Amino acid sequence: MNKMMSGFEVQPAVTSFLKGPLRMLIGGEWVDAQSGETIDVFDPATGERLGAVPSAGEADVDKAVRAARTAFESGPWRSMQPAERGRIVWRIGELLLENAAELAEIESIDNGKPAAIAQAADIPIAADVFQYHAGWATKLYGRSVEPSVSYMPGMRWHAYTRREPVGVCGQIIPWNFPLLMAAFKLAPALATGNVVVLKVAEDTPLSAIRMGQLMQEAGVPDGVVNIITGYGETAGAAVAGHPDVDKVAFTGSTEVGKLIVNAAKGNLKNVSLELGGKSPNIILNDADLEKAIPGAAEAIFFNHGQCCTAGSRLFVQSDIYDKVMEGLTDYAKSIKLGPGLDPDTAMGPLVSAKQLERVQGYVENGKKAGAQAITGGQRVGDKGHFFAPTLMADVDDKMEVYREEIFGPVVCVTRFDEADAQLLARANDSIYGLAAGVWTRDLEKAHRLAAGLRAGTVWVNTYNAFDPSLPFGGFKQSGWGRENGDEVLEHYLEPKAVAIALGE
Ligand code: NAI
Ligand code: MG
Repeated sequence: MNKMMSGFEVQPAVTSFLKGPLRMLIGGEWVDAQSGETIDVFDPATGERLGAVPSAGEADVDKAVRAARTAFESGPWRSMQPAERGRIVWRIGELLLENAAELAEIESIDNGKPAAIAQAADIPIAADVFQYHAGWATKLYGRSVEPSVSYMPGMRWHAYTRREPVGVCGQIIPWNFPLLMAAFKLAPALATGNVVVLKVAEDTPLSAIRMGQLMQEAGVPDGVVNIITGYGETAGAAVAGHPDVDKVAFTGSTEVGKLIVNAAKGNLKNVSLELGGKSPNIILNDADLEKAIPGAAEAIFFNHGQCCTAGSRLFVQSDIYDKVMEGLTDYAKSIKLGPGLDPDTAMGPLVSAKQLERVQGYVENGKKAGAQAITGGQRVGDKGHFFAPTLMADVDDKMEVYREEIFGPVVCVTRFDEADAQLLARANDSIYGLAAGVWTRDLEKAHRLAAGLRAGTVWVNTYNAFDPSLPFGGFKQSGWGRENGDEVLEHYLEPKAVAIALGE
């Protein structure tokens, strides 16, 4: 009964969740698409059909936006005391932790990632994100200001600023960290008193549906969070283009990010974007290779390379190049591929057949251009979307495999002689600027490189270290704005100036 096609069991709670019905959350009700259309959901490890979710169209999105608008204008959310709102947001985090094992299994069968990793990383970080932002609810201070208004000489003033919620926020998220991306988007929006229409990725809708149930349990009022399942070109586009959505926040490909900007033009929505990357990761001669080699391997192989921050261009200083290559090859070969429910699995399948094809395509294209797959380079097995951890050498700066975001377990390794301006120029030679890594014991070099890298995050002697207190986002075509930290608040709050004339 609880056994999946992979041969591994899930908890009874997961089985009963999958029995459904799996629906969208609109105005506090769980509903089907008005058209009755659905999208099948598959386990990427086996191709097993897990169920079907509604395929929302424009009418469903419109209904969700209207429910959100009503909740914003006349529901209890905006007038609620900040402390109470903060407690509800905090409670969401608690409920995620209380249900972590179930959520991790749902995430695993839907996305492919190892359940143990989801339970150790995705779910607790999502909880941290809600609990970090919960604290902002009571700390949204305005300022008092002393204006002069020089054409009204002698007038005295009492003036201050308020920070008010933007309103109805459309949020569109990808499939690589389904629950975590939902948390990144929802937590700051809710803590600041906004209402949301969240469009989840068509490949991975399940954990957000379960989280929607938990949000109701946490006391989120009807209409404050609406969860839409559906395709990007239909449901996603309808959210981005809706004239009554005040703001749109998107995480996904740079290509779609540009479509979102266009769609948002109609009513000049406030737009924030977290887009692709092709992040440089630099290992210097003096680095502690005991840490740098596994660190560089995990920088690309974590989440099967399906990370916007993936350290996919590795720069290794010449003296240690052979040693690092050898270490990385051993590491890559030792990674155990398998279904995410298997506790021994270190790397699961890619999310979809489409993604597998995309990754294969880049590697083939690289080989044709003269690059060499030192290890990996091909699909593993003929069932499920498994791709071997891959090191590409003999790459040059012009190749697509080196320049474009692959979103798979494929790293291009190149060498450099000196940690100088030329290295920085090569590392920064990308349309992206999301993240970067540096491995060194030399403080001076660490700080110089950290300052010179054009990226929203620089990790030194670590990689993919995330915390809700740290702003996250990209330079260049990696996006607009930042998530997390206090930096995210500006996207969800409208400053209002109030000036009161007190007489002369
Ligand atoms: P995508 O950018 O198409 O999908 C992300 C989200 O956007 C999904 O919810 C999708 O339904 C939605 N979407 C798609 N088209 C839309 C449209 N016209 N209007 C509104 N929403 C739309 O990414 P996809 O196709 O799943 O993956 C393709 C590549 O994109 C990946 O190989 C990777 O390179 C990149 N990507 C980057 C991510 C990141 O975190 N930076 C996340 C996912 C994908
Ligand atoms: Mg797409």
